[in-house]
Amino acid sequence: MTSPILPRAGVIGWPVAHSLSPTIHRYWLKRYGIEGSYDLIAVPPTDIKSFLGDLRGHGYCGANVTVPYKLDALRAAERVSDTARRIGAVNTLFFEDDDLVGTNSDAEGFTLNLRATVPDWSAKSAPAVVLGAGGAARAVIVALVDAGVGAIRLLNRTLEKAEALRDLSPAIIEPIGWEARADALSGAGLLVNTTSLGMIGQPRLEIDLTCLPREALVYDIVYRPLETELLAAARARGNRVVDGLGMLLFQASPGFHLWFGREPEVTGELRRIVLEAAA
Ligand code: ATR
Repeated sequence: MTSPILPRAGVIGWPVAHSLSPTIHRYWLKRYGIEGSYDLIAVPPTDIKSFLGDLRGHGYCGANVTVPYKLDALRAAERVSDTARRIGAVNTLFFEDDDLVGTNSDAEGFTLNLRATVPDWSAKSAPAVVLGAGGAARAVIVALVDAGVGAIRLLNRTLEKAEALRDLSPAIIEPIGWEARADALSGAGLLVNTTSLGMIGQPRLEIDLTCLPREALVYDIVYRPLETELLAAARARGNRVVDGLGMLLFQASPGFHLWFGREPEVTGELRRIVLEAAA
């Protein structure tokens, strides 16, 4: 008798040992009693094209893709979701009708975390201010545009990179120079940090919050530390805050559902376990 083939997924990166994805997916596999596995898949740059071209042959029913391969995954996929195409990166791969399909769950993770933390948040209330114009910013902007935000002030140290992101929604996105970040907070309903500033080992995010309305929400996608200096300062002056750990957890759930057939829950216990692993 042959044994059944158990669903096997994982996270592809180089290096990938630091990834928290196995902690998240293995928690859910255990919680739901699913017989399957989730691996760390370290693939050197010389092998990535052939590996993605034969994911199934390597025994996987799908995978997450992390740095530096999100663009390789976009190219390797036979079909790509609209969201992944707009973000310009694939972080989740799965098979449908034998085709390798690429999608991106970062925008969904951003929004689900926002709605879970602040259920009464209204996208239409006031302009959003986004700091940064890298890969993470693209996903955040797609999420905000899809949520119905009417105006996005996009600030980046390198203004040309903010200008390049304008194509995501030219009528909504206003690129602004980094030095104007304090003034850009006037009348805003949401401030999001998508830069690496404030992360452990990175420079501080220097920003004067005086002009930010007290009703505004402050969201930092940095989660090491969990309470960044930005969030601490915002909380101290009475703004509601959203930390970045939830985005990491929520972005994992679409992949789990696709590969293992169950919509998983982001629980307080999962947050604790992932925080411990991150420390
Ligand atoms: P990710 O994919 O995580 O977004 P990234 O593409 O490297 O990473 O983007 C990092 C972001 O942090 C960029 O917006 C970057 O600004 P530049 O486009 O000007 O490089 C921003 N950033 C990094 N270090 C910074 C610093 N010291 N001051 C201001 N912005 C910084």
